Amino acid sequence: MPFLGCPGRRLWAIFGKRCGESCRIGFRCPPGQGNTKEACRIGTCDARTAAGLPEAALSKSGLYGRAAKVTCAHFSLPDRKEGTEMMVLETVNLEMDGPVATIYLNRPAKKNAMNPQMHRDMNQALDTIEAAGNIKAVVVTGVGDSFSAGMDLEECFLQPFDDPQLFYRTNLVALNWFKRLKAFPAVTIAKVNGFAFGGGLLVTGLCDLAVTSETALFGLSEINFGIFPAGGATWAATHNLPRKQALYYILTGDTMTGQQAQEYGLVNKAVPADQLDAETDRIVRKIVKKNPITLELAKQVYERTTTMDLPTAIDYDQAKLWELSRLSGNEWVNVALKQFEKRAYQPGLSTYDRAEAKS
Ligand code: COA
Repeated sequence: MPFLGCPGRRLWAIFGKRCGESCRIGFRCPPGQGNTKEACRIGTCDARTAAGLPEAALSKSGLYGRAAKVTCAHFSLPDRKEGTEMMVLETVNLEMDGPVATIYLNRPAKKNAMNPQMHRDMNQALDTIEAAGNIKAVVVTGVGDSFSAGMDLEECFLQPFDDPQLFYRTNLVALNWFKRLKAFPAVTIAKVNGFAFGGGLLVTGLCDLAVTSETALFGLSEINFGIFPAGGATWAATHNLPRKQALYYILTGDTMTGQQAQEYGLVNKAVPADQLDAETDRIVRKIVKKNPITLELAKQVYERTTTMDLPTAIDYDQAKLWELSRLSGNEWVNVALKQFEKRAYQPGLSTYDRAEAKS
């Protein structure tokens, strides 16, 4: 299916795949850039154009659209809730629904292999989420039957290889967002919907949490094309798998199923494919009830203390606790523990109500 490029800005997306129709829906270019209003509003499927999405997309300086409910059967992405904000890039779609952002890797015809454009788009998606300032959970998933088949072997490795500068710069963009994802302030959740090879496994490992369908296939296939897992992929294996399993998959290039990934601890849970959305939503709903500052600092304390001895870790977490108290206006004492005093909830079983919280 042809990609409908917008000469002004890349605000176009093709959601439908292999449906035999154009399945295009577009965002209008910012004034003076690129296509005319009519040309930019192309949507050959009636159901889609009727959704009113391009009209609303004019809001927010043309970069975002507020999606209406879309009912067209040809969409490969699930229907969006009314009011969801969207950013559509060439290879990545970003949805923001209140405190939850969902990043869709969107090159299904190439099994969501990460080409240089996707690496640029991922950096832009992370920029946007950070700039929003209110996101507590970021879900990363793939469009189609693949989470990601890893680095695009042709566009990232084969084609630029003979030009060392180009090779370096091309891959730097990838390495940059890998590092950013690992250190991201919001809670990151990989929703692994299919193949996760090389960089796909890496992204799963970099996320804080991961859910997968039982039948998804994971693999460190680098050994099969003559290298070892790089760009953080060996790190991801050593930090998410027991030693013998990490070395087994690094050295053999064998695949593991989602079920095995759960067994070894690479993912939190493997579920039947038709329960993947529901299971991810269940986790997301828990996360968004928490104080975002607490979430961010909890991640920092976890990450930093893994390399400390106990006395150092205690000193560090005590300092962080005071930092948290200050940044949150002492929410844990003033709100959470006051509610406990009234026996409004049992912290062992549920979380406090943040309705009266100020942070
Ligand atoms: N880089 C570039 N292209 C890739 C790719 C990658 N990592 N993974 C898949 N593709 C391409 C295929 O070459 C094919 O392109 P084509 O239509 O131009 O021939 C297309 O995506 C579809 O893939 P295909 O192999 O036909 O799908 P499949 O369902 O039969 O197999 C995989 C899926 C993932 C098992 C297989 O594509 C594969 O082995 N990919 C490479 C995985 C890998 O080694 N990743 C590590 C990268 S660090």
